[in-house]
Amino acid sequence: MPRVKQDKELIGENIFEYNEQEKRFGTPKIIAEYRAKKLKCNTILEVGCGTGFQTAAFAKTCKKVIGIDIDKEKIKKAKKNMQKLGITNAEFITGDILDENIQAKIPKTDIIFLDPERPPQEKKRNINNIKPNINKFLKWAQTKTKKICIEIPPHLQDLPNKAMKEYISINHKINRAHLLFGTKEGARAVMLPENKTIEGKQKKREIKKINWAEMKYISELDPAIVYAKLEWKVLPKTRIYNKNKAYCLSKHYLRTPFATNYRILKILETENKVQKYARTLQTERIIQHNMQTKLKHEKGTGQIHIFHLQNKYIIALTCKQAQQKTKHSNSFSNA
Ligand SMILES: C[S@@+](CC[C@H](N)C(=O)[O-])C[C@H]1O[C@@H](n2cnc3c(N)ncnc32)[C@H](O)[C@@H]1O
Repeated sequence: MPRVKQDKELIGENIFEYNEQEKRFGTPKIIAEYRAKKLKCNTILEVGCGTGFQTAAFAKTCKKVIGIDIDKEKIKKAKKNMQKLGITNAEFITGDILDENIQAKIPKTDIIFLDPERPPQEKKRNINNIKPNINKFLKWAQTKTKKICIEIPPHLQDLPNKAMKEYISINHKINRAHLLFGTKEGARAVMLPENKTIEGKQKKREIKKINWAEMKYISELDPAIVYAKLEWKVLPKTRIYNKNKAYCLSKHYLRTPFATNYRILKILETENKVQKYARTLQTERIIQHNMQTKLKHEKGTGQIHIFHLQNKYIIALTCKQAQQKTKHSNSFSNA
């Protein structure tokens, strides 16, 4: 059987009924199970349950789950899907959660969870394009319970302060985020499958000037900690942010699960843009080739990484191998 990537695998995906769109927005199994443990209670209301990928996980940890969706075809599939898994503690309602007649049908619940709809083609997420409208939903939900969890696109800015913002990565790629109301405020980074978490107050990025000559390690930060703006809790301020990625430069190996360490072998500078590309592409290849050859001779299988940051090419070794290599490391000079 082919290995399914953890960020794509869905509960019941071999037996469930769903279409491509529903699969795309379906909650990955590892997230659904993490959330279901976190939101364990007697009765949970799941708004925007779709075809039931998250419902199936809630049904395991909660005594009862009530799924609601505006789309009657999805509810039909969700009912069938629960039957296929032998789940008997899930009930479903078809309708718009913002419709007062539907709201009147909803019994008492301990927790309300919302996974809203995002326009499939949208490039930059906008809170106003999410359905149902989050502010209207929250106003209603807060009349039912204090404990509310709303999934949000991780890139979304200007989020309410009175919530815990949780950012979840799977294998060092950002996957989901949600807001938790009715609990302490702040931010939390969660790394799956390791299940490592860190939490605190969000702080603005602080960056210190890098003294390149002193730097021995380059560490790639897990995106959950970067999205959560919690780097300040564990990592040095000698950082570089590049698109959605963040790196720390340090004299020391960083002992935190939120950073993947590489030992710096060499730092190459480039002069101008045109030359840079022509020359370094060639240099990269030669260096990579030479190093790999040398490493083979030293019984190493060192994986070389080339980071192109701030007009510098940082050539580094994955750290496990780099640590083993320190005895032989004279063949490579640090910049
Ligand atoms: C991202 S999908 C949910 C996917 C689901 N959590 C899963 O894992 O399969 C969002 C769902 O919200 C539903 N929805 C959108 N607006 C709604 C509304 N006003 N009331 C109820 N459901 C709504 C959509 O029909 C859609 O199925």
